[in-house]
Formats: sequence, structure tokens, C-alpha cells
Amino acid sequence: MRNFSFQNTTKLIFGAGSISNLMAEIPQDKKIMLTFGGGSIKQNGVYDQVQAALVNHHYIEFWGIEPNPKVETLRKAVELGKRENIDFILAVGGGSVLDGTKLIASAIPYTGDAWDLVLNPSLIQRIIPFADVITLPATGSEMNAGAVISNLATHEKYAFHSTYPQFSILDPTTTYSLPPFQIACGIADSFVHVMEQYMVDKNNSPLMDRWAEGILSTLIEIAPKIRQNQQDYDQMANFMLSATMALNGFISMGICTDWATHMIGHEITALTGLTHGETLVIVEPSLLRVMKNEKRKKLLQFAERIWNISETNEDKKIELAIEKTENFYRSLPLKTKLSEHGIGNDVCEEIVNRFRERKTQLGENASIDADTIKEILDLCK
Ligand code: NZQ
Ligand code: ZN
Repeated sequence: MRNFSFQNTTKLIFGAGSISNLMAEIPQDKKIMLTFGGGSIKQNGVYDQVQAALVNHHYIEFWGIEPNPKVETLRKAVELGKRENIDFILAVGGGSVLDGTKLIASAIPYTGDAWDLVLNPSLIQRIIPFADVITLPATGSEMNAGAVISNLATHEKYAFHSTYPQFSILDPTTTYSLPPFQIACGIADSFVHVMEQYMVDKNNSPLMDRWAEGILSTLIEIAPKIRQNQQDYDQMANFMLSATMALNGFISMGICTDWATHMIGHEITALTGLTHGETLVIVEPSLLRVMKNEKRKKLLQFAERIWNISETNEDKKIELAIEKTENFYRSLPLKTKLSEHGIGNDVCEEIVNRFRERKTQLGENASIDADTIKEILDLCK
């Protein structure tokens, strides 16, 4: 096990009716900016609950943070926040609203342009305190310090490190209104978050392995039940908590992680606009096939413990496990090939060129270079 320090400072407030906690959680002397997406919270009653809880607070509103939040939109919120001297931000919505808020909170005290902070987070000097009411289980953003921001002008999408939300309110009933497609993407995203941390041979942590396997098995178990009835409180509560636990640091203590699927997936989104979860289920099966020798031990463990495969031929066992994983993604239902989205060679070539220019090597062993990415993308077609 590698040395590590661990501190996750987010207070989770979980359960039906928990939005009313806002009243007590945010001090009354704060000048708050509320940040929102495109309006789903006006239809499902979340906005009304937030308003009711903050009736005695001072707040202004910023609407329109889009999926894959764009720096162009966030700059407007930064301007507003500076002008109004706000000193607390509450994000209400999915991971995109919260990620956007992490940049807004970091950029208000900064004198330069917000995009500088995405490219170079060491420039962040101070971060306005922020919290959230999360309405989409997927990103884990409600209990991590990361955020992923897109740049419309340059077709770029990068992750950067901000800080943790002060508190996060997770009310599973807010997810009842999610479009089934977003639920499918959320389950896929959560599953792949675990895989990025778990599927690494050189780790030697049976405890991290079993926590990760617990989340993977839970997602496999609840996915068909959610498809049958997405208003089943317990299933949605388990989904919501699984998504949070998948990316809040609890399953990555003392281990190495991969994240190559995400890095390639972000490029697909940046160039085509494909939803985050969709990109992951395309890239990951192919990546596992190409990298199967580096991930051999863990793939065999995954085959046995997650998919109960007893095949004795190791290569067949690994292929069966990858097939079952891909079938799981297809059952959500999501497409797992680029061609099914009409994405062709030009996009793949551009992605390979970008990685070649950046000279970045991906994966837990930094062994995935531009040529390997080409091999992976060829299999994704
Ligand atoms: O904008 P509104 O109208 O609110 O609609 C949203 C949006 O259209 C809708 N929605 C959210 N909650 C709803 C709802 N509709 C009905 N009922 C509800 N309860 O869902 C749509 C998608 O929302 P979005 O926030 O974009 O989805 P998600 O939470 O999956 O976030 C995706 C973003 O997070 C990044 C992704 O790259 C992408 O940019 N990620 C962030 C991570 C992090 N911070 O740690 C890690 C992830 O790997 C990921 O990269
Ligand atoms: Zn993700």
C-alpha cells in the first residue's frame, strides 16, 4: 500500500425532505448566489423547496449552466458574483451545475480569466465557500474536489482541482424526474469511476478491492430495478449513495488509479458533444481488451467476483468478463460503439493527434501513448 493522507470535508445530508436543512446550514448573514441549470428544477419542485428554505436569506440567481459546463457561460456568473460581492454559492442541479460552480467559486476572488484556473489550478488563491443540492447521481462531484469544464471556442474539456463542497444535500426523491437516458449515463459513469480505481494490477489492497466490488455489484443489482420503477425510493437512494461513494476518495486510499477511459472520453465529448456516460461505455471495453495484459490479474478477479465466471482458460475468462460488462452497459440501455453515434475516423484521428501533440502517457503505468489510443479507438468503431 502506498502512503497517503485522506481528508474529505463534505458534510452529506441525505434523505427525503432534506432540502429544508438549507435554512440551518447556511448562515443568515451570507450573500448567496444560487446557480442553476436549464430549468428541470422548476418542473420537479426542487426550486420551490429551495426558495421555501431560504425565505429569510439574501440571494441572487444565476441560470443557464449547461451540461458539460462552458467557461463562456461561467464567466458571466463570475462577473455577477464579483459585482454583487457574494460570499456563498449554492449549486442546485446535476454535476454540471456543481462543477461550473466550483470554477465560479474559484474565479470570483481571482483577477484574471477563469480558464487560466482550469489550465493551472495552482493559480487559485481563495475559493468562495459553496454547497449543493445534487439532483443527478453520477459524477460524485457532491463529495469530491474535482470539476470538469469545457471551452466552446477551442473544443477543449479538462478536469481541474478546486475544493470540496461544504455540504451536499442528497434527496433521492429529486431523481424521480430524471430522463431515463440520464439515469443510464449516471449508472455508467458511477460504474466506470469505480473501474478506473479498481482495475489496476499493481495495487495490493484487498480492502479497497472489496469496497469497489461492493459498489460495482450494487450498481449491477439495482440497474434493472430502477429501469422498472425509477420512483422506488430505496433503489434510487442506493443509486445516489453508490454514485457518491464511487468518487469521493473512499475507494482509492493507498492505491494507484487509471483514468485513461475518462481522458479519452472527455476528448470525444469535446469534439462531438456526446454525453459523458455514453463516451465511457464506448471506450472502456476496448481499453480493457487492449490493456488486458497489464490488467490481467485484476480482470481475472473481476470475472470471478463480479460476474461469477468459472471458465478455466484465462483469456476466455477475461473476454467473457468484458463481454458481460459491455452487455451490462447495453442493458442500461446505452450504445457501445462510435459508429452507432455516426462518429467516424476524423474524430478518432483528431483525438490521437491531440494526445500525440500533448505527449501525455495515460494509465496507471503511464504506458498508454498516442499509438495505443489509436488501437483502442480502432476497436471502438
Ligand atoms: O440543466 P437542467 O435543466 O437542470 O437539466 C439537466 C441536464 O439537462 C438534467 N437534470 C439534472 N437533474 C435532473 C435533470 N432532469 C430532470 N430531473 C432531475 N432531477 O440532466 C441533464 C444532465 O445534467 P448534467 O449535470 O450535465 O449531468 P451529470 O451530473 O452527469 O454531469 C456531467 C458533467 O460532469 C462531469 C462530466 O464530464 C460532465 O461535464 N464530470 C464531473 C466529475 C467530477 N466533478 O468529479 C467526474 C465525472 O467523471 C465527470 O467527468
Ligand atoms: Zn465520469
